[in-house]
Amino acid sequence: MEKVKIYLEKDFTLAEVDDRIYSSFLEHLGRAIYEGIYEPGHPCADENGFRRDVLELIRELRVSHVRYPGGNFVSGYDWKDGIGPKENRPTRLDLAWKSIEPNQFGIDEFVDWSKKAGTEIMAAVNLGTGSPRDAGEMLEYCNFPGGTYWSDLRIKNGHKDPHNIKLWCLGNEMDGDWQICQLNAVDYGKKAREAAKIMKWVDDSVELVVCGSASVLQKTYPEWDRIVLEHTYDEADYLSMHRYYENEGNDLDFLASFVDMDDFINTIVSTCDYVKAVKRSRKRMMISFDEWNVWYQKKQTPHDWMQAPHLIEDQYSLLDALVFAGLGMTLINHADRVKIACLAQLVNVIAPIFTEKGGKAIRQSTFYPFKYLSQYGRGTVLKPVSKSPMVETRYGDTPLLYPAAVYNQGAEELTLFCLNINQNEDMPVELDLRSFGRLEMIEHIVMDGKELRAANTFADETRVCPHVEKVVAGEKNVYELMLPKLSFHVIRFKVK
Ligand code: AHR
Repeated sequence: MEKVKIYLEKDFTLAEVDDRIYSSFLEHLGRAIYEGIYEPGHPCADENGFRRDVLELIRELRVSHVRYPGGNFVSGYDWKDGIGPKENRPTRLDLAWKSIEPNQFGIDEFVDWSKKAGTEIMAAVNLGTGSPRDAGEMLEYCNFPGGTYWSDLRIKNGHKDPHNIKLWCLGNEMDGDWQICQLNAVDYGKKAREAAKIMKWVDDSVELVVCGSASVLQKTYPEWDRIVLEHTYDEADYLSMHRYYENEGNDLDFLASFVDMDDFINTIVSTCDYVKAVKRSRKRMMISFDEWNVWYQKKQTPHDWMQAPHLIEDQYSLLDALVFAGLGMTLINHADRVKIACLAQLVNVIAPIFTEKGGKAIRQSTFYPFKYLSQYGRGTVLKPVSKSPMVETRYGDTPLLYPAAVYNQGAEELTLFCLNINQNEDMPVELDLRSFGRLEMIEHIVMDGKELRAANTFADETRVCPHVEKVVAGEKNVYELMLPKLSFHVIRFKVK
């Protein structure tokens, strides 16, 4: 096979990575909260009932923000049910997931948990059954120092210092017919704008995310986004994007998911810039890609009304991890406009971390690409020039070799992430790093394997995990590498 050349030039930069693109999501859904992060009585639980083994894995992922409490759940949630003495909290029907919500974990517990996890909070307000007034009151409870009804209640509930939550979502997927109290774009735009006004009056330091289309598959996409932005352009700071991918029978199409994500981002950025022009605004709207992942949506498990049911507990294979890596790299390659991105979700529910009630917590295959992107994908994104062979997939022309590169000047490190989706052949690559002066390859981490459908289980928790390749020396900063078919690479250099 012909050699693929990749050129990285240190001055061909795209943007600084916003650390918040390594965020995630925890919803009151299935076993994400209960039996996921919170399980009083578990051998690893701390004095608050937070699972220490799960906290440790989350710290390993270096997650920036965690979106909470939903998701679809938030559209029927009364945040006041989750505060105060636990014995007085009501048990409710959660209509979004047809589950029983015991309300033993609420915003105050989430704040305490986040401190232990080393994560910041991206909170969501209910704009389904909830009103703009509720949104303002929740913010007052969380962020106002004291001396008012809601802030004093927080203090009475044991949190003297304000929670200081700076990032807020104005509802969730309000265009979806599955959403509790779905709205059309005009009605949502008006409701979100009024909620935003109240929230910024309560605390003008907060940043707000308005709902974009729930996915490209929505009939109203991308008109929804245009109309919502026309109503909220001045008040909103980010427009949200959501997208999940699943294997619909053709592995190559599935592997090409990053092409679709790239196209989706380009369309939404254009829509934002169109509204900017209509508004004669100087403000550039940024993107919060606050739900992304691989999700086998067609395999839903039916269940009765239950507390913490086993819901949407996808088991991820090596193939899923490769697709996942391509999606994460696409977020990096759009660092100029995507400022926040949340892997949906974090524990048990379509998640990189999987727990057993009373037992273990393990890393799924997707844990590893997230970990390495988050660990080494911080710094300045470079624009690689590469000439990969192309192949036709359901998303159009698709490169078989997909790169993303980040130069961390502070750490004097350059990292090249590479996804090889060639199903038939290993790919010889020539990596030209001439502009970097003296450098040395220090690590080459690979995810590949013969068993594409292998997944980690409680019995065999390291079946799919990365391995380390031998580093090679370059000739005048030109490196020759052979990248095995169907593989993800993290290639690190020390810039001297
Ligand atoms: O992440 C699971 C669900 O997917 C979320 O609750 C919802 O926002 C989306 O449809």
